[in-house]
Amino acid sequence: MDRIFNFSAGPANLPLAVLEQAREELLSWQGRGLSVMEDSHRGRQFIELAEQSERDLRELLGISDEYAVLFMQGGATLQFAMIPMTLAREGQGVDYLITGHWGRKASSEAAKLRPLRVVADGEALQYRSVPARGEWALGGDAAYFHYTANETLHGLEIDPPPDVDHAPLVCDMSSTLLSRPIPVDRFGLIYACAQKNLGPAGVTVVIVRRDLLERVPEDTPLAFNYRRIAAAGSMLNTPATFSWYVASLVFRWVAGQGGVAGMAERNRRKAMRVYDYIDGSDFYANHVAPEWRSWMNVPFTLADPELNGAFLEDSEAQGLYGLKGHRAVGGMRASIYNAMPEEGVEALVGFMEEFERKA
Ligand SMILES: Cc1ncc(COP(=O)(O)O)c(C=O)c1O
Repeated sequence: MDRIFNFSAGPANLPLAVLEQAREELLSWQGRGLSVMEDSHRGRQFIELAEQSERDLRELLGISDEYAVLFMQGGATLQFAMIPMTLAREGQGVDYLITGHWGRKASSEAAKLRPLRVVADGEALQYRSVPARGEWALGGDAAYFHYTANETLHGLEIDPPPDVDHAPLVCDMSSTLLSRPIPVDRFGLIYACAQKNLGPAGVTVVIVRRDLLERVPEDTPLAFNYRRIAAAGSMLNTPATFSWYVASLVFRWVAGQGGVAGMAERNRRKAMRVYDYIDGSDFYANHVAPEWRSWMNVPFTLADPELNGAFLEDSEAQGLYGLKGHRAVGGMRASIYNAMPEEGVEALVGFMEEFERKA
């Protein structure tokens, strides 16, 4: 059947070549007469896959040996809790910069566990801009400084990382990782759920500086214990083998596309194509300040919200799926992650032009 262009925010589209390879290997992985889903995670073949995928990710992002790379479960939401639980001492403050929905979620989870300091909150700016650096209230003794690199709902992206050095930088890169080069050595910990740029939901990548592993209290339950998970090669318990396998194929695919530098070039071009069109039109609008606009998620509104229903219906009829904005923000949103081809973006802009002309 024909594939549609999927603009969903996550789970999101996967590269066609990856899906084809997974289909090819589904019934008989490595010619062994069984699926990777049915194979033991302790077997030689899966261990090799796990080790190779870690090497591939290290190569793609330039991750040094100073960092452990973990393939976990529980999504970004588990990290929201695990980070304050294990990287801050009881009673020690944690700094959070809130630039949207996910930063707010992460901070409210942290507040359940440790004294939360909101460094700045962009709510008054409607999350269309980042509060000015001069207005941030940083806590001198914070265990870490947390921010969200890309706010998936609002389409607001922070790059390069904020200029703070009083505490290790901790970053939610759920909708950023692999979309552009990142200076890993500026960070204490980076985490990302997979269902945007890395693969299917189920696996969560954590890149953590090894010295921070020493902060994890000895009596931390195993499932929350970064140190023990790192020591066990992410196999303290049964990992999400199929999701991990697909992620390993995605890493290879990204490498074949020129790595993260190649992805960044293409992602910038795709995003600019949509923003330029929106900015040149009186019918559509994106309200994020240009310097903070995301390359991954482009929210936009129609001049007449009465036409939202027709826009969604017509776009879907033309094979453009998932354009409805998050209910917290409204309007539309085009998520254009790594796997969205430039033809998909052209099809979207073509449809928007046509819809505007007919309206
Ligand atoms: C930036 C960001 N953080 C966190 C999440 C939550 O991830 P999960 O559903 O895997 O917990 C998402 C997306 O769903 C996201 O876009």
